[in-house]
Amino acid sequence: MKNVDSKSHVRGESIYLDDIPLLQGTLFACVYDSPVAHGVLKTVEVEEAEKSKGVVKIIRAKDLIGANQIGGILPDEPLLADGEVHFQGMPIALVLAETEEQARAAVKKIKTEIEPLEIITDPRVAFAKNDLIVPPKHFKLGDAANAFKTCEHVFEGRADVNGQEHLYIETQGAYSIPTEQGGMRVYSSTQGPTAVQRAVSKVTGLPMHLIEVDVQRLGGGFGGKEDQANAWAAMCAVGTQITKRPVKYALHRMEDMRMTGKRHPYSADYKIGFDKDLKIVTYEATFYQNAGASADLSPPVLERTLFHCTNSYFIPNVSATAYSCRTNLPPNTAFRGFGGPQGMFVIESAIAHAAESLNVLASEIQRKNLINDGDEFPYGQIAESEAKTSWTQADEKFDFARLQKEADEFNRENKFIKKGVALMPVCFGISFTKTPMNQARALVHVYTDGSVAVSTGAVEMGQGVNTKIAQVAARVFSLPIERIKVHTTNTLRIANTSPTAASAAADLNGRATQVACETILERLRKVAAELLKTENVSDISFLDGFIFNKNQPTDLDWVTLVNEGHMQRVNMSEHAHYATQGIHFDWGKAKGHPFAYHVYGTAIIGVTVDCQRGIYETDFVKTVHDFGATMNESVDYGQIEGGIVQGIGWMTMEEVVYDQNGKLRSNALSTYKIPDIYSVPKMIDIIPLKTKRKNLAIFNSKAVGEPPLMYGIAAYFAIRNAVRAFNSEQSPAFDAPFTPERVLMNLYSEAAKEMKAGK
Ligand code: MTE
Ligand code: HPA
Ligand code: MOS
Repeated sequence: MKNVDSKSHVRGESIYLDDIPLLQGTLFACVYDSPVAHGVLKTVEVEEAEKSKGVVKIIRAKDLIGANQIGGILPDEPLLADGEVHFQGMPIALVLAETEEQARAAVKKIKTEIEPLEIITDPRVAFAKNDLIVPPKHFKLGDAANAFKTCEHVFEGRADVNGQEHLYIETQGAYSIPTEQGGMRVYSSTQGPTAVQRAVSKVTGLPMHLIEVDVQRLGGGFGGKEDQANAWAAMCAVGTQITKRPVKYALHRMEDMRMTGKRHPYSADYKIGFDKDLKIVTYEATFYQNAGASADLSPPVLERTLFHCTNSYFIPNVSATAYSCRTNLPPNTAFRGFGGPQGMFVIESAIAHAAESLNVLASEIQRKNLINDGDEFPYGQIAESEAKTSWTQADEKFDFARLQKEADEFNRENKFIKKGVALMPVCFGISFTKTPMNQARALVHVYTDGSVAVSTGAVEMGQGVNTKIAQVAARVFSLPIERIKVHTTNTLRIANTSPTAASAAADLNGRATQVACETILERLRKVAAELLKTENVSDISFLDGFIFNKNQPTDLDWVTLVNEGHMQRVNMSEHAHYATQGIHFDWGKAKGHPFAYHVYGTAIIGVTVDCQRGIYETDFVKTVHDFGATMNESVDYGQIEGGIVQGIGWMTMEEVVYDQNGKLRSNALSTYKIPDIYSVPKMIDIIPLKTKRKNLAIFNSKAVGEPPLMYGIAAYFAIRNAVRAFNSEQSPAFDAPFTPERVLMNLYSEAAKEMKAGK
């Protein structure tokens, strides 16, 4: 079954924010943002800009009718800077003009005087000043500190991992249209329609029921539109409120890159202790998260770093602490994996460090420490583990020893080209870690022509959730997929949505859809039983648009039944709710059962490094991945391939660079490189690990959106192994991404020494 959007995508007929036909009188917005990362806003001169052609209004903080506040978790983020600026790219003024070009031209005429304050871009510096977004978070299992005394081997070090630009193809944007009673309909490219509705409500001072948010689909979100779509929607809404006209803002790529936050960079310290059999006895880690200038989603991202800080391993003694450090960068935000990948990079670094010092393969250590059924995660949940099965199956299918041997042989024969391989087991928890967010609603209508309209809280962003939801309805009603249409995500049809995030959209909204469809079907089953004069309602079943009685076909078809149902005044609409059962978490104790289940898998990545030029290629990615029972193979394979490529990009070539003044240097596609068709792996081999345990997803499938990204971490360690095959003296710092420049410097010891000395 193909993605329901594939035809309209290929024909260019799919509708994104920028394709919505504009109403007459629409104004265009553009933001004037801070050119300074930290300072006191002395003056803002807008007079020239106001006189500029086509300008209708310039909005500043003082013009807002509601609160100048869009912080979702903590109220620490003004919509428009007032008094102080906290990062380069912080919005200061909003220009509204008759055309987009006029708005942008006017922005260039705005001038500000900003008295500079100290700029901090390094989370460790912020930590030293005790400038934290929230109090530190801590996970503890056993007695980590004392356990080191019993260890045969102990290793300590530091690992740094950089951020990542979301680079969704569709930039951020919104379009707001006035409705009666001063309300508005807001089209937004957001993963969180309700988050947008709340933010608009706050800044306009209007109740939520006057604000309708509607989302057709996104050209990608990847977490970047979970929270950070709010600002642009709030600005358009404020523009509509003040001018009584429709207002649209679709950001240009450089505006988007400059003004929005990214994946959180982290700096971390680790200490790991082993017994003589290479079992990990104890692990200590301290994480310094670079949160940027305000909270945004940093606190839950920080928490997920802790949840995944031991990846797929069982470690009996763990002490992990995480600090969310305030810096003068755009507020960093959700990005596929939500802090988990950063936590995993650190333990993989610790393992690589140990392997190198003990002269064993990292995979030896990884294999010996995989978590088992019944083992406890540091947060108290007991594992139902597929870590060993996925590892063993991957070894059987792909033969790790042979792949390693091939690389070793190649390396013996080639002086300037080296191969490296590395393994990456992944274990990722599914559910929002904030338990109340794990709920969803669906609205299903069966029309008298037999067609079915479905609305849910899920947002389609390329991940195929609409296809899966259509499949749920089609399966429950046993109708061809053409009879089902999944409609826009709209806050009037579905209220109080959780964002489409945490890989859980299909699980949650799919389940709600299932409940709604089953409820309608039960009603129609009774109608059918009467029509077919069957006493036992349970004898009635549905297959391919026909009604069966005691498993025998009848003449009664779906459309006839639906019409009869309508004549008998049966309710053929249902609004259903689903909440994941059995999950809870107590932050007082930092223990609980936060995840409905975990997704497991094992990947092996092979690379070839050109040791004269520092460039590299990914030869293969081979993975055994735990799909549960996949609902849609082609959608899920697409998610895995995309996730892997995005993960490899993060680990190898994507380099977010801010200078000391907090200015984004990698501010365009010329300076920020993501994987293209030439740099994607030459081969991605995916073998499904079909698991049969009961889980809380939909039709026993498992969530697939985020976990595969973390396979990409193996690319970093594969490159590192290749570098060490060329220069065995070399022990590259754990500092991702491994860009070609860094690879080159690390290949040659003298250059590496100079780099370490900061020359
Ligand atoms: N796939 C595509 N094509 N585009 C996206 O923006 N976002 C990812 C993932 N896969 C994304 C994607 C992220 S960050 C998440 S949380 C999940 O999709 C969300 O969707 P799901 O819950 O339906 O898996
Ligand atoms: N994952 C993704 N997004 C979220 C989460 C989470 O656990 N919590 C809040 N937003
Ligand atoms: Mo995904 S980072 O949970 O939007």
